[in-house]
Amino acid sequence: MNRTFWKEAVVYQIYPRSFQDSNGDGIGDLRGIISRLDYLQKLGIDVVWLSPVYKSPNDDNGYDISDYQDIMDEFGNLQDWEELLSGLHERGIRLMMDLVINHSSDEHAWFAESRSSKENPYRDYYIWRPGGPDGEPPNNWSSIFSGPAWELDEATGEYYLHLFSRKQPDLNWENPRLREALYKMITFWLDKGVDGLRMDVINLISKADGLPTVERADLAPGELAGGGEYYMNGPRVHEFLQEMNRQVLSKYDIMTVGETPGATVEDAILYTAEDRNELQMVFQFEHMDVDSGPDGKWDVTPWSLQGLRAILHKWQVGLAEQGWNSLYLNNHDQPRMVSRFGNDGAYRVLSAKMLATLLHTLKGTPYIYQGEEIGMTNVKFPVLEDYQDIETHNMYREKMKAGDVEHETILKAIHAKGRDNARTPMQWSTAEHGGFTDGTPWLKVNPNYTSINVEEALADPDSVFHYYRQLIALRKHHPVMVYGDYELLLPEHEYIYAYTRTLEDIRWLVLLNFSDQPQQAELPDELKRLEARIIGNYAESSVLPGLLRPYEAAVYKLKG
Ligand code: NOJ
Repeated sequence: MNRTFWKEAVVYQIYPRSFQDSNGDGIGDLRGIISRLDYLQKLGIDVVWLSPVYKSPNDDNGYDISDYQDIMDEFGNLQDWEELLSGLHERGIRLMMDLVINHSSDEHAWFAESRSSKENPYRDYYIWRPGGPDGEPPNNWSSIFSGPAWELDEATGEYYLHLFSRKQPDLNWENPRLREALYKMITFWLDKGVDGLRMDVINLISKADGLPTVERADLAPGELAGGGEYYMNGPRVHEFLQEMNRQVLSKYDIMTVGETPGATVEDAILYTAEDRNELQMVFQFEHMDVDSGPDGKWDVTPWSLQGLRAILHKWQVGLAEQGWNSLYLNNHDQPRMVSRFGNDGAYRVLSAKMLATLLHTLKGTPYIYQGEEIGMTNVKFPVLEDYQDIETHNMYREKMKAGDVEHETILKAIHAKGRDNARTPMQWSTAEHGGFTDGTPWLKVNPNYTSINVEEALADPDSVFHYYRQLIALRKHHPVMVYGDYELLLPEHEYIYAYTRTLEDIRWLVLLNFSDQPQQAELPDELKRLEARIIGNYAESSVLPGLLRPYEAAVYKLKG
């Protein structure tokens, strides 16, 4: 397996709107990020992934782009961005930009042209279809943000496709001119010195020929039905990615990660095997569905370690020889990991460290989401009006309209799964609004900022922050963490995730207790010959190796 920078790196995701405000308008901005670069350097990360900062009307917080080559007014301007890039580079940190090219904003100049007439040269930059015989939408696909995936546009009497909000029309990748325009735009950023790209829902760019209606016996006429089978990992997606790679990506020394909902291990190999020249890694979502019921994300269902481990294990084994894993337990679209997979009450610090140990000792590239490194938790806003996310509001409206679920039940699901859990502002200090802004924050700060914040984390040598620092630093000195083979132990254990990582004659043992009770790991004798504890979340090694305290994480070097 080739040794490369991006396998060795640790990535830190910044959601700019919520990171640090510098001008008191309540919205995080680029100058705010610049003011926190020393903090990132202290943490020791290698790459910053910046969620979108391009011009946008913010229907979906920047994932709806109206100008790909300029900066959103609230965030600053191109000069600020240049300063951010050089500030990162001076500290040895690379910058990965977010590339949102499955769709644009409906306020993009291309869409304004496209919708203006059927003959407009930009018409075919988007996906337009006439309605059915009774004026109904062209097919029964639903939007990922609820409701139909089609919007009727009065100007020409045709529908356009939007897999996300109606202000995010899908781009038509079948059109070579559109592809050329996108490649030119990407080149603009790479020429400026960008070091990496995270590609938003990149496996949705190729839609099946004819955009077929989902046919299923249980569907009433006109009933909406997902449609993912017709646009996830679609027929030309690999051809398009190889073309983009050939024409643009391969000309630069960059890191790439594709967001690929619905991708299987087999799909991921196609996207990331080195000889296929597409991407370097993908964000898969299987483990993010471990607590989803038959009705999807909002149908919140208890998860088990067996379920989570089975998925992570499958991906570890599946990409052992070809491709590469990205490792994450939360991001700007997911609840906070300590609330979801750990314990955000009495064991918050221990369980956040235990999950961090998992992320940094599985094989793959770890991605840390802002605030994770201080153990930030989910938030429970009491009223819907406190939430800002379009996905949450659309879902609420649809469910109330359908009338089969009660307000309280929906609110509970929002508390567990809503994306605003991750988007509450970064908690820097005990100052008002957590030191995020002098103004009124666009989304309320989690009230627990008075005890969970960066200032306290920096001052406490036992904090989650300092544990992350240690893990990140270890990775720099121990190639076994990056390149070691993974092998699962105790596959049946209800609460312990245990595995080894082996590189030549070096072997590490990782033991993780996912419960608030002591747990015993019955290990074979060869794995009991411990040479040293590399890292652990309890001050002292356990006197009885194999007996794990609540949420204990311990990594040992084994005797050769
Ligand atoms: C995935 C992004 O991560 C999410 O935040 C966004 O809403 C959708 N793609 C649409 O761009």
